[in-house]
Amino acid sequence: MKNKDLILLAIESSCDETSAAVVKNGREILSNVISSQIEIHKKYGGVVPEIASRKHLEAIDFVIDEALNKACKNFSDIDGVAVTYGPGLVGALLVGLSEAKAIAFALKKPLIGVHHIEGHIAANYIENKNWEPPFICLVVSGGHTYLVKVMDYSKYEIKAMTRDDAAGEAYDKVARAIGLNYPGGPEIDKLAKKGNENAIEFPRALMNEFDFSFSGLKSAVLNYLNSSKMAGKEINNADVAASFQKAVVDVLVSKAIRLCHNEGINKLAMAGGVSANSYLRKRIKEECDMENIILNIPSPVYCTDNAAMIGVAGYYEFIKGNVSNFDLNAYPGLKLGNN
Ligand code: KG4
Ligand code: ZN
Repeated sequence: MKNKDLILLAIESSCDETSAAVVKNGREILSNVISSQIEIHKKYGGVVPEIASRKHLEAIDFVIDEALNKACKNFSDIDGVAVTYGPGLVGALLVGLSEAKAIAFALKKPLIGVHHIEGHIAANYIENKNWEPPFICLVVSGGHTYLVKVMDYSKYEIKAMTRDDAAGEAYDKVARAIGLNYPGGPEIDKLAKKGNENAIEFPRALMNEFDFSFSGLKSAVLNYLNSSKMAGKEINNADVAASFQKAVVDVLVSKAIRLCHNEGINKLAMAGGVSANSYLRKRIKEECDMENIILNIPSPVYCTDNAAMIGVAGYYEFIKGNVSNFDLNAYPGLKLGNN
């Protein structure tokens, strides 16, 4: 007899997207609904935590209903509820977590707390059904930049991290300095296409190490903008965007490839919002082809925040027996690894 399918409802609310997904047997996405608050936060140039919590609260029931409807499932079909419990904004996390607890409790089904970054990494399992550990993952999101050795499903070793700003944070701050909207990553991605990436020589930090540092680069861009203004020189924002982006991508790509060689692993994955970047995707593909490294990058919708990835990571926790208690709390600074 065929085993019964395992259907998880997944919820993500760690930052500014309210998302719910229905995931079948770990890798099949039956629905993935994302309600973005970006238009509201744009006015303030970044995410306002209090507004984020309120908007999650307003959206979450509708988003879950829509995810169930799109998947043609009812609450009674759900075998467990996976939810992000950190890292992220505490108020935002609590909305999703409380909702997940209420649903799991009412259905008498397991609650599965998921680490947000583990979710991003698990996005690699969605479209490429043959992708499995071990592999190296370059994690580049708004708040985190890591090189992670993924040894097994939910078994990670952090090999490098940023010592200051995350890659996404650098994109957002530089974008703001040249007058682009929040979130700056996609805006720089677009504008850089019109610029000359070799126009300005910005610094690449810690090139002989695996750790990252982006705050010096950010300062160099700000200095360039200020000194050009003071000297009355015309600033070409597209050139600034392209040159900044090249400096970030040179560092990300070279360190990721070097770590693959160092670890003797010829599989590289990417995760997190910045991995939606078209220039990074192109450069890392070219480099991997040259170095005979097998590359996997999720489609952009699975790179930025979404609940489908939480459902996938939740599945691998669930089959390992890692279910959570109902006193699970939200952890804004939750660390990756050690399990
Ligand atoms: O993973 P994510 O959606 O949320 C966090 O967990 O932080 O990442 C958001 C970050 C933001 O900094 C945003 O500017 C950046 O990802 N991002 C991009 C692109 N799309 C989103 N950065 C560069 N190019 C993009 N196309
Ligand atoms: Zn994220």
